Amino acid sequence: DSYDTAGHAHFLIKEIHEQPSAVERTLSGRLDERFATAHLGGLNMDARELRDIRRVKIIGCGSAYYAGQMGAQLIEELARIAADAEPASEFRYRNPVIEADTLYVAVSQSGETYDTLAAVQEVKRKGGRVLGVVNTVGSAIARACDGGIYLHAGPEISVASTKAFTSTVVAFALLALHFGRINDLSPADGRRIVDGLKALPGQIRQILEQEKEIAELAAEYAECEGMMFIGRVRGYPVAREGAQKLKEISYVHAEAYPASELKHGPLALISPELPTVALVPDDELLDKNLTTLGEIRARAGRVLAIAHTAPDPKLANHTLLVPRNEPELDPLLLNIPLQLFAYHAAVALQRDVDKPRNLAKSVTVE
Ligand code: AGP
Repeated sequence: DSYDTAGHAHFLIKEIHEQPSAVERTLSGRLDERFATAHLGGLNMDARELRDIRRVKIIGCGSAYYAGQMGAQLIEELARIAADAEPASEFRYRNPVIEADTLYVAVSQSGETYDTLAAVQEVKRKGGRVLGVVNTVGSAIARACDGGIYLHAGPEISVASTKAFTSTVVAFALLALHFGRINDLSPADGRRIVDGLKALPGQIRQILEQEKEIAELAAEYAECEGMMFIGRVRGYPVAREGAQKLKEISYVHAEAYPASELKHGPLALISPELPTVALVPDDELLDKNLTTLGEIRARAGRVLAIAHTAPDPKLANHTLLVPRNEPELDPLLLNIPLQLFAYHAAVALQRDVDKPRNLAKSVTVE
């Protein structure tokens, strides 16, 4: 990966297209086929120490926090250890209780985000153990942590995070697999995840091939007043990251909601001028998600579904299909079309894609 746009119109689209190779690098040398687990030498914790962990608390800012939310779901699902994510700034200012059997994980592409660094220092001051999931080798956050996982995603120049986000989720999948195999994850389930991880680069390539179709849809939807992004459980962090990316680079207002919360308030916003992007994977919540689409369509709301199989055209005006992986890894793939969607909406609206107004690549002040 180079420090120029390598013939692309923007760093952002170059970095979106670099994701298959970024994921390969995040995985490189870390998958153990024989024991269906992951090798993570940088954790600096042996199996016995890891077995004593009862809870995982993930902290980060912005997209790093949303990637952490996906990470928390992976850890809970694969390792059955209670895990959650919280914005680093909220965490540090609420005088958090630091527990000896909790593992703290700080997430940062740059490794220089001040709020995340200060949160790490606060945990360490109180005697907690912190791992870093960081892209930039030798950065302040990497140095402050007790160990961790480097992403090896390569340099990310564009303000909006794409390949680092994806690599962070992959790093969490490796951590969850490693944790899981130390706890109760069976060899068969471990193998299922190893195979799923190996399939990711090819599947990301497949999604990137739909760029032209996504660009056309993005130009059409970019004319709206604002957008709603919805998902249930695994789909919810995808919705949050999709809304964040659209806001950040196209300045189109976007809200992310758990699909189940729509009828508790935001359904009042639904109109033809406020379309909805709905994450509709073929999982155990599919029927519930389809019901929600029906509720939106009944209020004349437009729906763009991101799905494994196209819903009935009565329920979705447009559908973008993504290949199916393992259910735990599907959120990572469901996010990729939303990156292209945000990018092409921003291009259609002639925004300064790589340097959106009011934002900096790394926020090194409070
Ligand atoms: C992502 O698109 C944003 N630019 C922003 O939310 C970013 O993820 C956040 O500021 C955290 O940055 P970091 O990963 O370098 O700590």
